[in-house]
Formats: sequence, C-alpha cells, structure tokens
Amino acid sequence: MGTHIETEEAGDTGAGRAARRDEAVRAAVEQGLLGEDSPVVGLLDVIGIRESVAELRAAFEAVLAPGTPVLHAFAVKATPLVPVLRLLREEGVGAEVASPGELALARAAGVPSRMTVLDSPAKTPAELREALDLGIAVNADNPQELDRIDSLMRSRAGRSPLGIRVNPQVGGGSIEALSTATATSKFGVALRDEGAREWVVQAYLDRPWLTRLHSHTGSQGVPLALMARGVAETYALAEEINRRAGRRQVDTLDIGGGLPVNFASEETTPTYAQYARLLAEEVPGLADGRYGLVTEFGRSLLAKHGTVVARVEYAKASGGRAVAVTHAGVQVAARTVYAPGSWPLRISAYDAKGRPKEGPVVVQDVAGPACFAGDLLAEGRSMPLLEQGDYAAALDTGAYYFAHHYGYNSLVRPGVYGFGPGGRFAVVRRAQTVEEVVAESGGAQADALTRARWEVP
Ligand SMILES: Cc1ncc(COP(=O)(O)O)c(C=O)c1O
Repeated sequence: MGTHIETEEAGDTGAGRAARRDEAVRAAVEQGLLGEDSPVVGLLDVIGIRESVAELRAAFEAVLAPGTPVLHAFAVKATPLVPVLRLLREEGVGAEVASPGELALARAAGVPSRMTVLDSPAKTPAELREALDLGIAVNADNPQELDRIDSLMRSRAGRSPLGIRVNPQVGGGSIEALSTATATSKFGVALRDEGAREWVVQAYLDRPWLTRLHSHTGSQGVPLALMARGVAETYALAEEINRRAGRRQVDTLDIGGGLPVNFASEETTPTYAQYARLLAEEVPGLADGRYGLVTEFGRSLLAKHGTVVARVEYAKASGGRAVAVTHAGVQVAARTVYAPGSWPLRISAYDAKGRPKEGPVVVQDVAGPACFAGDLLAEGRSMPLLEQGDYAAALDTGAYYFAHHYGYNSLVRPGVYGFGPGGRFAVVRRAQTVEEVVAESGGAQADALTRARWEVP
C-alpha cells in the first residue's frame, strides 16, 4: 500500500502554477497593487483553484460506483472568503461550516443548505435550531448535543440530514495540535472508550432519523494510511449499525477532510487520486454505491493557490546575519511564526519590479513587521539576497494563512486579489483601513472607562 503511493504517478509538478504566480507578482507591482503604499497583499490563483476542484471530483468519480451521491463540502475555516466560496460553489463544491460566522459566509456566497454541513464542537441551541430550520446537515459531536437535537426534532419536520461525529482514536500525526483522532481528542464520540461504541449504535437504533456517520482523521501531518484507517473504522461502525437495525439506516458517510499539503516544494503530493484509490483499496465497501459520500477538504484545495507578497522595507545585518524586514509576519502567518518547526513556508525572492530574483544565495532571515523578536517568516534561509524595495513571497499560503488575520500591533488586514490569465486581478477582500482598525478597537467608546458610572453591587 505504501509502495503503491510512492511508486505510482507523481503529483502535479506545479510548473504552470509557478509561472502564473511569477506573472501575477510582476503584474501586481506594475499595476500598483503592490508598492510603497500597499506593502503586502494576498494573491489567489483562480485557475489553480479550479484545477484542484476538478482533480478532487475526478479522483472520487474514478473509484466510486456510478451514480453514488457525493458532496464535496469545502472546509470554510481554511479560506473564509465569500468570493472563494462562490467560486467553489460554481464548481459544484458546498461548504463545511463550524461557526455562525462561517455559516453566514457560506450563505452570503449562495451555497445552498443541501450543500452545507455544520460540524462545530460547541454548537449552541440557537445554532442548532437555525441549522435544522434551514435543512442543513448536522453532525452531533456528543451525547449532550444529541439531547438538544432530540428536543428540536420533536417540533420539526426534520429536513436536515443528521449524523454523529465519531473519533476512531486511530492515533495522531506529526502535528499534535492538528491531530483529531488521538485517544483524547476533543472532537466527536471517542469510539474506543468503554461503552461508547454500544452507545453510538443504540443512539442510531433509537433514532431512525440518524442517517449519516461522520469522522475526520486529519489534518496536516497525518499520513494517508492513518486517514484511511480512520475511514475504515467509521465504515465498519456504519455496517454494524445497519446490521443491527436490519436496514440501511446509515446511508451516507462523511469522511472529513485532512489531506496533507506539501509545503516543501511546488509538487502537489499526496494527490486526491492517491487518497481516493487508497480508500477504495482499504475500504472497498465505501465505493460500491451503497453509501453516499461527503468530504470536507480545506487545506488541500486552497493552500497551493495562495501567495502572500510583501515589500522589503529595510535590508540590514545583525550579528553577521542578513535580515530582510518585510511587511508579512505574524499577522498573515501566525502558525509559521509561532510554530516554525511544524509550519515552514517556502519563500521566493522578487526584485523591485516583481521579477524573480537571481544571484548568489545568501543565508538570511525574512522578518515581519511586528514588534517581537520571533516575528520571522523564515530563519537562516538560503536564497538570493533580499534588498530594500524587493519583494518576499510566502508560498502555499492560500489556506489558514492570509485569510486568518491576527491583529498583533493593530496591523491592518491586507487586501486579497484573485488573478486570472493575462495579469488581471479581481478584488476578493479590500485592505482594511486604519480607520476601520480604530472603529473595531472601541473607537466610538473612547470614554467608556473614564466616564463610566460604576454600579456598586
Ligand atoms: C471536521 C473537519 N472537517 C474538515 C476539516 C478540514 O481539514 P483540512 O483543511 O485539513 O482538509 C477540519 C479541519 O480542522 C475539520 O475539523
């Protein structure tokens, strides 16, 4: 199985994507999207996003029995931007949402309820009510949440497909914070805990309206084989429920997302095709048409299609180390800055005209604008020397990076632009203004603490 993955077709080398990115950086500088007054932007490769969706769809179509109902629901948390969700919607992809904000984004993008799945671990009664009223699929995280759904179902017709999220407890990957199937993960019903499996089965037998079963054995850092094992355990549980129910009560398996992304080179690997084939080999019953399928990929759909590009404000040296001080740091790449070992990013150097930089390789730090020493996008990186006025591009940042602004130092959220062929751009999100930062920071309540009339209890 492992060898199968290693020796079969390699992933997309990404040459086309790299060429489009180079063209976009040059065009962004030429057109003034990037420059002295706009020193950091996020760029999204629209062609690349469409290609990834096509690969996802084709991968599962190739292994599933013809006519199998499939919903690919994009994990909105990966890139919570309405135009991105609309683009994906146009490509036939729905939305997996995990908060009222994400649900609102999906609705603003026009994602229909029947293509939306609600998964958060802390749904309030109001959120559950809204989801059920809208007919959105819900995966109950735990017995208490199922109690709430029980009460809601008593007064509703029940259009929503409903299921339970289980944690197959098959183990974690290399990044503890992103491993959802560990023995003590906070998500879902921990299947191997004493009595848990029987509780799940009985919960289905008692509730004929529970028709889905959900697990997500991700994310980044989790090997494909472990992901497949998580799906296999979930499938086995669905079979057990259906056997005990004497009918096909569970008709849809939601296998979550979690396909890891290669942040080390341009190549797309592992591929959706590799994962889908592995699933079909390891869990053949998943693909024989008896179960509908829901997937919830996030990072693997968007990461490689996003780039943060930042101007080098100053180039200096410290202790003999070259340091490029740029405008991209913790505010656009929080994970990389706080956990560089787990989240290294490739950095490309462009000159002041936005052309790829050539020249001798120099060991240097690529620093961000925030006022703490650890605000580094890359430390001790060997690359052509970044000089004042050049641009540093943090690659593969289309998911969980520039769309996840972190407000340190009240740095504004950068603008995000989609690019298509011929160096043309579309505004996805305007850059935040300093006035908006003031407004969001209590600007209208400046006197709140100095003029407060404190109530004495
Ligand atoms: C339930 C669920 N589904 C899908 C995802 C998306 O994972 P990824 O972006 O790794 O594909 C997550 C990520 O946290 C998740 O918790």
